[in-house]
Amino acid sequence: MSIVEKIKNEIKSQFEGEATGHDWHHIMRVFNLSKFIQSTEGGDLETIELAALLHDISDHKFNGGKLDEGGKVAEEILFRHGASKELIKNVRYIVDNISFKGAQVTSEMNSLEGKIVQDADRLDAIGAIGIARTFAYGGNRNQPIYEPSGEIVMHDSFEAYANAKTSSINHFYEKLLLLKDRLNTKTGIELGEKRHAIMTEFLTEFHKEWNFNTEENS
Ligand code: ADP
Ligand code: NI
Repeated sequence: MSIVEKIKNEIKSQFEGEATGHDWHHIMRVFNLSKFIQSTEGGDLETIELAALLHDISDHKFNGGKLDEGGKVAEEILFRHGASKELIKNVRYIVDNISFKGAQVTSEMNSLEGKIVQDADRLDAIGAIGIARTFAYGGNRNQPIYEPSGEIVMHDSFEAYANAKTSSINHFYEKLLLLKDRLNTKTGIELGEKRHAIMTEFLTEFHKEWNFNTEENS
């Protein structure tokens, strides 16, 4: 069995049944989208597949708040399955740098393989699936779907973003609507257009229904 197959089995058993939008199916969608983007953009397929499988391992939102743990855990898994030093280094770099860290925080992603997996992860956070995941995550966190008096904060540090209290609708303004302009590859940007439009349409309708006023609508 290849390293990719072995790690796929391990990650599947770890993430199956997770209900926060961070589940095994998210990982598979990122895996498949990454492969699709790679087919036009190029890049080393094994690095891309492994980074897609490992990108959400030990996420700070589910590991008690440790912001930099994912890369280390990914490295241990790769090492245990006999990956080469070079492969471990390249995959770890991606896992360390993939996350969105706040509206005003610029993140670095300097490898083609990383740009591809980051695009796939971001594409799965927007569009119809992105909408569903946002409310699943919000519900899991006991976060309100919307709080009209709540402020939209454009966070300027990862700590502030990671510890913020928000509503699921505000999450669209603090992160999801910004992702379209942070996609890296031509293929990713093309796929992002439709998904972005689905979110803006959803938000327009959401606010219309929220502000429904019998006088105006009679
Ligand atoms: P990804 O897996 O794309 O890297 P994250 O790890 O940031 O995304 O989050 C997982 C999912 O939960 C995404 O769909 C994301 O938009 C959503 N999410 C993250 N933070 C919040 C939040 N504060 N409120 C609502 N949804 C959130
Ligand atoms: Ni992810």
